[in-house]
Amino acid sequence: MSSTGSPNIVRSLVHIDGEEHKSLRALTQSWFMPNSILKLEDRIRSLARAMVAKLQQHNGKVIDFSGTFASQYPLHVIMDILGVPQEDFPRILALTYEMFGSEDEEYTRDTLRQGDASSATGKALLSVVDDFREYFESLNEARRKDPRNDVATLLANAVINGQPIDDVTRLGYYVIIAAAGHHTVSSSTSVAMWALCRFMELLPQLQANLSLIPQFIDECLRFASPVHHFMRTATADTNIRGRKIRKGDWLMLCYGSANRDEEVFPSPFTFNIDRRPNPHIAFGVGGHVCLGQHLAHMEMRILFDELIPRLQHAELVGEIEYMESNFVCGPKHLPVRCMLQ
Ligand code: HEM
Repeated sequence: MSSTGSPNIVRSLVHIDGEEHKSLRALTQSWFMPNSILKLEDRIRSLARAMVAKLQQHNGKVIDFSGTFASQYPLHVIMDILGVPQEDFPRILALTYEMFGSEDEEYTRDTLRQGDASSATGKALLSVVDDFREYFESLNEARRKDPRNDVATLLANAVINGQPIDDVTRLGYYVIIAAAGHHTVSSSTSVAMWALCRFMELLPQLQANLSLIPQFIDECLRFASPVHHFMRTATADTNIRGRKIRKGDWLMLCYGSANRDEEVFPSPFTFNIDRRPNPHIAFGVGGHVCLGQHLAHMEMRILFDELIPRLQHAELVGEIEYMESNFVCGPKHLPVRCMLQ
């Protein structure tokens, strides 16, 4: 399936372990730590306000909240950090949909629909990754010539143990930040709007006590679990709840299922913002825990800090529709009608 002879189409942080993983993660980590993202708060708040103002312009109209609103704000935040110019946002958004939605008819490239399903998906993914490569090679070149204060400049000039990082690893780095860095947040934001529409008591409860917003966000993240799975390889023979695992076995971590574990979450299928603590693992655990978790949380908190006090009414006017995928996905269409003051 892969042109590099590996089972993975891109080689990103999640596919790398040990010292190499630590060094690669350390390259950009300082951008995403709680103290560093505080510096981005004003910029992010102005993007959140712009989104709320746009929503207000659509007062009383039926809108596709996922497709038109939730997809834009987190895209803007992460593209600014990466250093992608605004005119290219639509291109990155389309590539992200084509990559994560490669099994969804709405997003699969037309020319690649022939043949059996798995080979068509493989071809589609390879051609999407080629387009990401073309785009990021040119951004990389531009940043080597003209360095800026952004993550692209950092990746373009990255050196580990005296050696520049190789092109395949750099591409994987760009792709994970450029794709997972917004689609996950937009999925969780859509689930938040769905919850506000679906559970009428939620909006007055949050408006009466805005300090509940972080708990609301955690419950949205638990419910959305926009990363559905990642694989792990067992490094030693072991036993998990009576199941024998052999060294080298592949295990699938199902985050959405873990986030509905009835031994951890009482009434796991109930949306309940009063879970304290809410030990969801939407961001994963361990050495590969999401690099952007603090940023994602902050983006959502700022957006709902701005939106909740102004939202007078939100209602569903159709069915929520999910992207077809077992990997990274969430709502793709959410028809709603809102009123903001
Ligand atoms: C709601 C939003 C998000 C969710 C639910 C999410 C979820 C996850 C999960 C489950 C993992 C894998 C963890 C593991 O293997 O145990 C991960 C890894 C990662 N995420 Fe996120 N993510 C989100 C937002 C972001 C953002 C905004 C960025 C932007 C930088 C980002 C960048 C990454 C990277 C680079 C990794 C790989 C980390 C590593 O392997 O060391 N994510 N994320």
